Amino acid sequence: MDQSLQSLLLKEQQQLNSALMSYLKGLNIPDRLRESVLYSIEAGGKRLRPLLMKLTCTGLGEDPVKVYPAAIALEMIHTYSLIHDDLPAMDDDTYRRGILTNHKKFDEATAILAGDGLLTNSFHVITTSDLYTDREKVNIVAKLSKASGLEGMVAGQFLDMEAENQDISIKDLENIHHLKTGRLISFAIEIGGFLAGISQAKMEILKKYGDYLGIIFQIQDDILDIEGDQATIGKRVGSDIDNEKSTYPSILGLDGAKQYKAKYVKEAAQCLKEVGLENTDLALISSYLSERDQ
Ligand code: IPE
Ligand code: IPE
Ligand code: MG
Ligand code: MG
Ligand code: MG
Repeated sequence: MDQSLQSLLLKEQQQLNSALMSYLKGLNIPDRLRESVLYSIEAGGKRLRPLLMKLTCTGLGEDPVKVYPAAIALEMIHTYSLIHDDLPAMDDDTYRRGILTNHKKFDEATAILAGDGLLTNSFHVITTSDLYTDREKVNIVAKLSKASGLEGMVAGQFLDMEAENQDISIKDLENIHHLKTGRLISFAIEIGGFLAGISQAKMEILKKYGDYLGIIFQIQDDILDIEGDQATIGKRVGSDIDNEKSTYPSILGLDGAKQYKAKYVKEAAQCLKEVGLENTDLALISSYLSERDQ
């Protein structure tokens, strides 16, 4: 990984982690549930969604201080989605972020409740922040709940499960990727733009960019499930094959999946150009996302 990108990621991870920890540590949670929540949060993770939100905001020339509550909320929802994704009823995985999955370390009921708690408190973080006006709170919560709920990530996770062991079209697969992964990534970009006061016309392009980035991100995740290194990705390689998942490589083959990804990388770069963000850190992180090895 590029040196400047690495230090950018590290700096961002530290800032976000301290904001996350100061919120979570201020809560009165039963001991074992607290341990379980902190276990998955402290396991790390790349924190890419918060970073995308912040870089969109700063790329557009705005101070990022208002990004934090929304960014923390987003990372909490993302972490909840991973804890539940790993459960035996879903992908049944044993490793996540380099350590045992939450239900393996604790138990299934605790993992379910840790996820439920992270989801619910994500709305608490936003609505109790004194950095936002009431109008901003309503807008952010409405968008976050839509992106993560029954018409968003949850729908994508449902369709992903339903598509196991099925022959589905590329169009259907794209819809699954768009929902299960794209919606949260796109939320990150959209709120970064919103907090920077972007125009409606530019917002439409940014949203398109967020959608492309989401698909690129998930295609790369599917590729890493085949040719990644378990120690680097922090989760098991081959999980999709064992679960007979419908993925880009399973439908198009590895090379086909890479070509598809390259097509979207071009489209995403074009969107960045159209909003004048092609020479920013956001562009740097976008190219990293498509080639990442972790
Ligand atoms: C994994 O997301 C799940 C997908 C949506 C592909 P990340 O690769 O961002 O996971 P962490 O947060 O770094 O663990
Ligand atoms: C999960 O996709 C996306 C979520 C919304 C959690 P995957 O099932 O491919 O994610 P990993 O590979 O387990 O991280
Ligand atoms: Mg899954
Ligand atoms: Mg999974
Ligand atoms: Mg995966």
